[in-house]
Amino acid sequence: MVSNAASAAAQQPDWPDPGRAAAVRSALAGSEPLVRWDDVRQLSALLARTAEGELCVLQAGDCAEDPAESTVADVASKAELLDVLGDIMRVGAGRPVVKVGRMAGQFAKPRSQPYECGVGGRLPAYRGPMVNGPEPTLRARRADPGRMIGGYRAARQVFRSLDRLGRGGDAAVLERVWTSHEALLLDYETPLVRPTGEGGGHYLASTHWPWIGERTRQPDGAHVRLLARLGNPVACKLGPRTTAAEALRLCALLDPDRVPGRLALIARFGAANIAGLAPLVRAVRRAGHPVLWMCDPMHGNTVRDASGLKVRHLDDIMNEIRWFLSIVSAGGGSCAGLHVEASPLDISECAGAGATPVRGPRYRTLCDPRLNPMQAVAVAAHWQL
Ligand code: PEP
Ligand code: CO
Repeated sequence: MVSNAASAAAQQPDWPDPGRAAAVRSALAGSEPLVRWDDVRQLSALLARTAEGELCVLQAGDCAEDPAESTVADVASKAELLDVLGDIMRVGAGRPVVKVGRMAGQFAKPRSQPYECGVGGRLPAYRGPMVNGPEPTLRARRADPGRMIGGYRAARQVFRSLDRLGRGGDAAVLERVWTSHEALLLDYETPLVRPTGEGGGHYLASTHWPWIGERTRQPDGAHVRLLARLGNPVACKLGPRTTAAEALRLCALLDPDRVPGRLALIARFGAANIAGLAPLVRAVRRAGHPVLWMCDPMHGNTVRDASGLKVRHLDDIMNEIRWFLSIVSAGGGSCAGLHVEASPLDISECAGAGATPVRGPRYRTLCDPRLNPMQAVAVAAHWQL
């Protein structure tokens, strides 16, 4: 495995027992790959067709996936939601839709603040099921490297569930549920970088389509360095503070050969800031990078209600999509698809379409507020090309 020691890695946990973390890394390095190189190549071919304007992409799922929700029944309802939303987008776009879950590895979260203050005092932030526990106690928040093994096993179970449902490797490429997650936790991802068997290349065998987030996309950082060397298609989130120069630098690093569909740029500006996307689309187009522009209308629209609960308003989400479509088309970019946090469960975490979130059993996200199925349908209907 290639070490990331040369570049700084943002957002990594401070494992209290580094020896145990090293043992987990070796166990992962000796484990079976979760995806095959041949499958990754098939997804790359679909994303190349997306760049040509032939297909669209729907990328959807939990903010933080719960490893306990990996059974065939859990995965069947997630796949069903992807199918419903994909059908709506297909009609709105007049193009077949590539369905991609935020699943089978979406177990680690970046945090803006390393600590949170609650009734019990100051606690380390929750960093996702692969790092620590969500309960507000010091004990739960202690980072435990053993959780990476739990994450690997849960991901493997999701892949097996997809196979059992006929939505994995045996499915036709447009029937298949492809997997994606944020490649955040380097102690998990790096041991799963494997040889492609072709010309000395490597790919990430933890997922078909890794992305890096707004907090880990530093051009000289370890996450960009990791994605740059992978044969997988890759994606990168861009927020409202991104400059055109930064976007171009990321394109040069992540798509040096200007391969159609190789790089997706996922805009998550927020409805209030979406105008800032226009100069980036123009600059990337002028530089000749055939990127996929994806719209994440969730992460720039997170607010706190009067009680301090994190919510997102459907109006903001829908407005961001509308502006995204007009800005990207006007700039000559490819409007490739939607990236949303949505759940098949009957939840009330986002506001709108009859829901007003309050703390309680219908607000159960491990991290950010997700759309419920009715809200997700309303949002997908805004994908009109
Ligand atoms: C996420 O996708 O859950 C996330 C943290 O996104 P971002 O990096 O855009 O904030
Ligand atoms: Co999120």
